[in-house]
Amino acid sequence: MNRTLTLAAAALALFAAGTVSAHQGAKGVVKQRMDAMKDTSERMKSMRASIDRGKERNAESLAADAEQIAVHAAEISKMFPEGSTSEVSEAKPEIWQENAEFLDLADMMARRAARVAEMARVGTEDATLQAAFAELGESCKSCHTKFRMKKQ
Ligand code: HEC
Repeated sequence: MNRTLTLAAAALALFAAGTVSAHQGAKGVVKQRMDAMKDTSERMKSMRASIDRGKERNAESLAADAEQIAVHAAEISKMFPEGSTSEVSEAKPEIWQENAEFLDLADMMARRAARVAEMARVGTEDATLQAAFAELGESCKSCHTKFRMKKQ
């Protein structure tokens, strides 16, 4: 195959992957952070369900989920190296143009997740825990609104 044909085939393969699922087309650090965000989101769902059980909540798994989210948050600074966009990535260029603000939001997410973990461990009353969990959810939204584009 000549070079032009090879490139065309590669472009087609990329296009096909992108239409199936963002994750299948993602590679390297883009795939890593998508997986970390996905894990974060799954943990948020199980935390929501656990918190809604009130006194019956599983404090240990709630705290463990929140702690893992804090770990993901702490890794955000490494998972968005300058210019790491791709066909399938939803990362906006603002991440690097306004990097201090982006990293502040990652810090906020880490602190709020750690706070939820702490509250789960000490058995903080429901209303306070609910509020702390809602604040953690707000930190996702404030970053996504400014720094993530919605594809598809
Ligand atoms: C500091 C900014 C920031 C914070 C805080 C943040 N995210 Fe994200 N998130 C992003 C960016 C940027 C992307 C797009 C990454 C890409 O496609 O390269 C993303 C993508 C995602 C995705 C899509 C992953 C995929 O499959 O493509 C999910 C789900 C997600 N985030 C969930 C969360 C949840 C839940 C929280 C809060 C607990 C959170 N995020 C906090 C910046 C953030």
